[in-house]
Amino acid sequence: MPIDKKFQNSFINVTSRAALSSYFLIGKKDKIGADKAAVDTMRNELNKIEMNGKIVIGEGELDEAPMLYIGENVGTTNGPMFDIAVDPLEGTNFVANDLPGAMSVIAVTNKSNLLGAPETYMNKISANCSEQNVVDLDFSVKKNIYNLAESKNLKPENLTACLLDRPRHKEIINELKKLNVKLKLISDGDVAGALMIINKKYSVDIFLGIGGGPEGVLAAAALDAYNCHFQGRFIFNSNKEKDRAKKMGITNFDKKYELNEIISGDSIFCATGITSGDIVSGIEINKDKFTSETLITHKSLGLKKIIKTEQII
Ligand code: FBP
Repeated sequence: MPIDKKFQNSFINVTSRAALSSYFLIGKKDKIGADKAAVDTMRNELNKIEMNGKIVIGEGELDEAPMLYIGENVGTTNGPMFDIAVDPLEGTNFVANDLPGAMSVIAVTNKSNLLGAPETYMNKISANCSEQNVVDLDFSVKKNIYNLAESKNLKPENLTACLLDRPRHKEIINELKKLNVKLKLISDGDVAGALMIINKKYSVDIFLGIGGGPEGVLAAAALDAYNCHFQGRFIFNSNKEKDRAKKMGITNFDKKYELNEIISGDSIFCATGITSGDIVSGIEINKDKFTSETLITHKSLGLKKIIKTEQII
């Protein structure tokens, strides 16, 4: 069943308000405070919405996260049943250090249509091609680049790959350098990193590498509306992580998740800028009002755009 259009504004309001709360902590070197501000506001705003929402990706489990924990019910309980993934502050470093790219992010589906992702790393790949077998998590870097170049009728040296700048990506980076591929290395914020394939204006052809699992699911929600390719595979580094995953219903720890196994049916995705980044501009304050920019997708309605809103603070 399609999600009612009226919820678009409700969720834009949620991420805009959460973004505003974090905005006041920009440059304060307080990652935890900035995250808490966004979490508290997001929860408050979610609870005003006429829905039966359940957090499937949140700030952790009840024992470690008093707010927006996995399994928490949100909304007035009077309305449709939704599964909700949240990242109230994506890019805590960005806000703490006044750097570009911080966003407040949410993805919403009808009940049972969103994969509950454990708080582990995920190996991810995304590219702007819907054909099968062009890029794949199980292909070598070389095969992915050659296939993508061929499908886009370009040479590998004309492709740009985006990935988190981390020591764990040394081998991939070396391989990409050998292939003469252009590199866009990002210091944080791989939701935005994965989304940079959606539009030619960002000049990114492929996103790959290891980042947060929850961030992978959130990015997949938007990529689904853009009909792009995404695959993810969780990485479990301890038995504790495996036990937590089991509780969420994950039994095959090596499974490669296709986009349609991560998200299905209708969805709304919103990402509002806190500090200005590649995808969306940050919050601007003008007297008693604030302006925010949100990338919103609503799959069933084909909505994919950046919306600017002005609201009273
Ligand atoms: P936070 O906002 O929670 O700090 O996450 C930022 C981030 O860069 C994510 O975008 C990314 O998925 C993850 O951290 C990567 O983790 P790590 O810094 O451990 O490589």
